[in-house]
Amino acid sequence: MSEQVTGRSDMWSNSFIFVLAAAGSAVGLGNIWKFPYIAGENGGGAFVLVYLICIAIIGIPVMVSEIMLGKLGRASPIQALLNLTRTHNRSTRWSIVGYMGVLTGFLILSFYAVVAGWVCYYILRLFTGEFTGADASTVGEAFGGFLADPMQVLMWFSIFMVVTIFFVARGVTRGLELCVRFSMPAVFVLLLILIGYGVHAGGFVESVAFLFTPDFSKLTPQAILIALGHAFFTLSLGMGAIMAYGAYVPQSVSVGTTTFTIAILDTVLALLAGIAIFAIVFAYGLAPDAGPGLLFETVPVAFGNLPGGALFGGLFFLLVALAALTSAISISEPAIAYMTERSKLSRAQVALIIGGVCWILGVGSVLSFNVWADVKLAFFEWTFFDSLDKITQLVLLPLGGLLIALIVGHVLPKQVVYQELGLLQERAQNAWSIVVGFITPIAVFLVFIIEVIREVFTHL
Ligand code: PFF
Repeated sequence: MSEQVTGRSDMWSNSFIFVLAAAGSAVGLGNIWKFPYIAGENGGGAFVLVYLICIAIIGIPVMVSEIMLGKLGRASPIQALLNLTRTHNRSTRWSIVGYMGVLTGFLILSFYAVVAGWVCYYILRLFTGEFTGADASTVGEAFGGFLADPMQVLMWFSIFMVVTIFFVARGVTRGLELCVRFSMPAVFVLLLILIGYGVHAGGFVESVAFLFTPDFSKLTPQAILIALGHAFFTLSLGMGAIMAYGAYVPQSVSVGTTTFTIAILDTVLALLAGIAIFAIVFAYGLAPDAGPGLLFETVPVAFGNLPGGALFGGLFFLLVALAALTSAISISEPAIAYMTERSKLSRAQVALIIGGVCWILGVGSVLSFNVWADVKLAFFEWTFFDSLDKITQLVLLPLGGLLIALIVGHVLPKQVVYQELGLLQERAQNAWSIVVGFITPIAVFLVFIIEVIREVFTHL
């Protein structure tokens, strides 16, 4: 194996830029597209409560762990784990988490970019005023018609992929800061406008009740695993993306404060998106469990019926596309960082190779909504798109998160961890050790195992 990699700590010129970049990674389609539709499919309130608990007791400790590992290892996740385990005389096998992360990144980016392609098409559709005055059924049919056309979907997916590769090739910081600094507050404002529309159209109260009144009879074991997996997905955890960004963090960054800021921002944006979308769902009598099309079947209805809606609607989808871009860049980072370390290729060449592989995989997801709609994975009835989505969210990310918690809680010497986190008092040290060493891994393990056993039994 090669020598240790060091000297990359100057990438984020200050801690604020790191917070922006990490927030840019966390806030994306997971918040605006995915959270509302999975909350809708899983019955609302009780699911949302479990999701919030997962963010608090699993997401936050794992994020602290990832940033810390990146900061300590100062390299790609694979190399960082190799560096750390060697330095502290531990088994280098733990670097498997890094390899898993690279694989997970390929799988996620391939389908993430397909959905981001849908968003790009919707920028155009809204700006051109296609939905002005449209009712819900017209908007729903327009989405169905779009998905049924593989060439059209392929084209928009490819456009998004090319833009992502372009930014990845140019390096992580350029453009990212600007993008996040302006687009994040703007998304926030547009979501508030949408919520205002919901209040006006009459779905707001029902929406809030749907999302925040837990009905535990609707909570299935699978829903708990989905909530857990989504906590990882939405915070970009379990595959080394935040760890890869952590490798460039200035020493002065407070890991705890950064983590809380990102987790709160990410959660608030998801909840706002949920409130906005369900307000439209209930105002128009639509189905909350419409699935992955929910965003595209609701938001255009609202903008179509608002004064200036074509402009604001186009802007909304543009901002969602930018949020998706800053996330997509981070999804590729573990693989990019590793390949640039290990080969003589330039960052641009590596970006092209990784982008190319993701593009090929992504074609499967493009076809899942039309030509291959009936090609399903045995037992689960998942399309190609569903399979990638579920395998990453329900298996690979939780497993990655579990292993990361174990590395920080049990593999690295405790003093190294305490020192890096600035935990001086014994009480704080013990509390941290209990959370990351026991509560987080046991919670992930239990949810995971119970659901796997249940699935095995139901399919026997
Ligand atoms: N957190 C991103 C979102 O919510 O859209 C998606 C994501 C980014 C997942 C980075 C995983 C990752 F490593």
